[in-house]
Amino acid sequence: MRAIDIIHAEHRALSAVLQAFRFVLDGIRAGTMQPDYVLLDALIEYITEVPDRLHHPKEDDVLFVKILEVLPELAPLIEKLQHEHVMGARSTKALREALKVYQAQGSAGFAEFDAAAMRYIESSRKHLVTEETELLPIARQKLAPQDWAGIDAAFEANKDPWSGPTGEFRTLFSRIVAMVPAPYGVGPA
Ligand SMILES: [Fe+2]
Ligand SMILES: [Fe+2]
Repeated sequence: MRAIDIIHAEHRALSAVLQAFRFVLDGIRAGTMQPDYVLLDALIEYITEVPDRLHHPKEDDVLFVKILEVLPELAPLIEKLQHEHVMGARSTKALREALKVYQAQGSAGFAEFDAAAMRYIESSRKHLVTEETELLPIARQKLAPQDWAGIDAAFEANKDPWSGPTGEFRTLFSRIVAMVPAPYGVGPA
């Protein structure tokens, strides 16, 4: 069940970036941090690229398909998760636009950007929790070794949340860590 380890690792990487994003928004809202638009842009790039290009395709095209085949009674849960993938991709696109507006308007535009970003962070967190608590434990229990063989192979072929297919996520993640202040990063306080 190499696939499950890979999913956990990708969920952890994404959670770390979501927590850093929340930390930065809290700081700006409290007035203890100046808005850093380059950092905000990098955070949005990560939460757009990693789920949409690396993570969700493997769930949608491989894991969910096999689960549905073996456990058709999970169809409502799978449909909900797939719908959340679609909505998530829409939300990150909207966030990118909201950041442009915020950058143009300055502090007057923060509240709207903040609300949209916090909504995204919360729904993305819930999505990860649902997969971790409602989907993966049942899949681990009910899928047979031959089911996992195919899933594992597909996940092995595309697995690295830290560096991505061509190394670009490593650079992006390092940039984020360098810009976010402690304790979530090593950037200037
Ligand atoms: Fe998912
Ligand atoms: Fe996931």
